[in-house]
Amino acid sequence: MNIKIEAKNLVKIYGENTDKALELFNQGLSRSEIIQETGLTVGVANVNFEIAEGEIFVIIGLSGSGKSTLLRCINGLLMPTSGSLFVDDKAVEKLNEEELRKLRGEKISMVFQHFALLPNRTITDNVAFGLELRGTPLEERRKRAQEALVKVGLEEWKDKLPSELSGGMKQRVGLARALVMDSDILLMDEPFGALDALIRAEMQEELISLQREIKKTVVFVTHDLDEALRLGDRIAIMRDGAIEQVGTADEILSNPANEYVEKFLQGIDVSKILDANSISKWPREVIRETEGVSVALHRMKKADTDYLFVLGARNKLVGMILREDVLKLAKDKQTSIKDIIKETDSVQSNTIMRDVYPELRNAEKDLAVLDENGRFLGVITHSILLMTLDERKGGDGIAES
Ligand SMILES: Nc1ncnc2c1ncn2[C@@H]1O[C@H](COP(=O)(O)OP(=O)(O)OP(=O)(O)O)[C@@H](O)[C@H]1O
Ligand SMILES: [Mg+2]
Repeated sequence: MNIKIEAKNLVKIYGENTDKALELFNQGLSRSEIIQETGLTVGVANVNFEIAEGEIFVIIGLSGSGKSTLLRCINGLLMPTSGSLFVDDKAVEKLNEEELRKLRGEKISMVFQHFALLPNRTITDNVAFGLELRGTPLEERRKRAQEALVKVGLEEWKDKLPSELSGGMKQRVGLARALVMDSDILLMDEPFGALDALIRAEMQEELISLQREIKKTVVFVTHDLDEALRLGDRIAIMRDGAIEQVGTADEILSNPANEYVEKFLQGIDVSKILDANSISKWPREVIRETEGVSVALHRMKKADTDYLFVLGARNKLVGMILREDVLKLAKDKQTSIKDIIKETDSVQSNTIMRDVYPELRNAEKDLAVLDENGRFLGVITHSILLMTLDERKGGDGIAES
C-alpha cells in the first residue's frame, strides 16, 4: 500500500501567537478552556492518519469539528501549528513557495459546495479555467475540458452558459473542473451538500463509478452519515478537532470506538443507516434495454458477472438478462436483448433491513433497490448483507445464512 497523505500529531490552532495556546493544549486543556484562556481556536487537535493512494477517505463530523481545517492543511493553505502533514512523503510545512504552488496547482484539486462559475464563459471554458491559469494552450485545454465533461455526463452542455444549467449540473461542472487538472489528489468539501436527496444519491453513485476509472486519492468531507458509509473506503469521525475513530464503514458500525461514536451513529437517524438504499451499491455494469447483444456480452465480461440489470428511460428497472440467454441470441445472430429480459427480484429503497433479509435469501441473484417510481438505485449483494449491523443489533440473525 502506497501512503499518499499522512498526518502525524497534527495540530492547527487559528490565530497569531499560538505558543501559549499550544502549550495549554499540550498540557491537556480542552478546546473550550483554551478559547477562554487565549481567545484562540484549536481547529485540528493532534490528529494522526494515513491515506492510501487510490482510497476514498471520508471525514465526517458535526459543524465546527474541524473537517475543513483538516482539508486546508492537506493542500498547504494552512500550515500546522505543530506536528506534520505529509503528501507523498514530503512535509507540507517544509515546502518552498514554488513547491507549494505546485502542490495546490497540480498535485491537488479541490471541489467545494459553493464555487463560482464564470457567468460569461461557456461550460467548456469554465472547466478549462484552471488549465488556463496553468498556461496550457487553448486547443489542448479545450480538448481536455471536453474529455472531463464526458466523464461527468455533460458533453452536450459544453457550449452552454452556466445560467442554463441546473444546480446538479453545476455541481458536475465543479467536478469536471477538478478532474481536468488530472491531479493525484481530490479534496472535496461537502461537494453535494446543496443538492436535493435524489440528485445527491445520483452524484454519489457517479463518483463511485468515476473513481473506478480514475483511481484518484479522494478526501471527501461530509455531514451525512449515509453519504460517508456509501462512499468511504474508510471513514474518520471528527469531534472538536480530534479524530475519534478511523475505519471502514463496517468496522465503525460494528465496533464503535467509544460512546461518542456510538451516539453519533445513532443520533443520525439509525433507521436511515438500516434501510435498503443505504447499503445498496451501484453494480459494476448495467445495460439499457435499447442496447444489444454484443454490448451485453462485453459488459458481463468486464464486470465478471453472468447477468445484468436492464434499465429503461430515467433508469427505470426493466428486468435482467442472463448470460446463457445472451449467448443463445449471439449464436442465432440476434442483436436485440428485448426478448430475453426476465423479471427480477427487487425491494423498495425505504425497506428496513430486517425486511430485506428474507427477500435476499429467496432472490435468485442480487436484489435490485428501487425508488417509489421504479427507478433503479443499486443492488444489495449477499456479501453486503453479511456486513450489516444486524448481528450487533441482535436482530433475526443473518450471520448463519
Ligand atoms: N479562519 C478561521 N479563523 C478562526 N477560527 C476558525 C477559522 N476557520 C474555522 N475556524 C474555527 O475552527 C473550528 C473548526 O472549523 P472548520 O471550518 O474546520 O469546521 P467544519 O468541521 O468544516 O465545520 P462545517 O461542517 O460547519 O463546515 C471551528 O470552531 C471554527 O469556528
Ligand atoms: Mg467545513
